[in-house]
Amino acid sequence: MNLTIRPAREEELLGIAELVADMDPWKRLEKTSADLRKIFVADTLRKVFVACQRDLLAGTVQVRYAGALGRLGSLGVALDEKYRDGGYIHVLAAFPGFQGQQIGAALLDYAEALTSEVSPRVYLCVSEVNTGARKFYEHHGYRKIGAIENCLMQGNTEYIMLKDLS
Ligand SMILES: CC(C)(COP(=O)(O)OP(=O)(O)OC[C@H]1O[C@@H](n2cnc3c(N)ncnc32)[C@H](O)[C@@H]1OP(=O)(O)O)[C@@H](O)C(=O)NCCC(=O)NCCS
Repeated sequence: MNLTIRPAREEELLGIAELVADMDPWKRLEKTSADLRKIFVADTLRKVFVACQRDLLAGTVQVRYAGALGRLGSLGVALDEKYRDGGYIHVLAAFPGFQGQQIGAALLDYAEALTSEVSPRVYLCVSEVNTGARKFYEHHGYRKIGAIENCLMQGNTEYIMLKDLS
């Protein structure tokens, strides 16, 4: 496959935001490239990585190694005490033309390996209607621990997923 994963360069962030904004679920949730770029740049705890095949950007993942409960709190979620803090995977995408080639799996493994150095677990959110991604995450050992209704958009339900990394 000849895939390289590395930190995104500052000058690549706008292009990544444009690619992501043009994909579901972000398009369906009406996230613009300006919204996404603002999030990439404003949240300094969030690290953005890209997967490259030769010189082409094939996918991206964003990860916080810790502080997931703060992020979930900002979405109005109060998790049960038994779920202590962990890392958080924000945006995971294999770009159009690169899906179904294990790029999503490679990016997820990469984000989990980095997170596991500081956190014993990792969270993410996935839209209820995004059945393909939900199956993908279940396949990778994530389990649903909660749901947030009317999240990000009226009528949208986000499932909170957790994976133990220890
Ligand atoms: C979800 C996504 C990241 C998966 O990445 P991908 O590179 O296409 O998937 P991979 O090729 O790595 O698949 C890895 C495994 O998951 C399974 N899988 C992938 N997509 C799947 C789907 N839609 N339904 C069921 N299983 C799926 C594959 O069968 C594969 O299994 P295997 O390892 O036994 O062969 C990608 O399809 C994507 O970017 N989707 C749009 C954006 C999105 O929804 N992101 C998640 C937001 S929370």
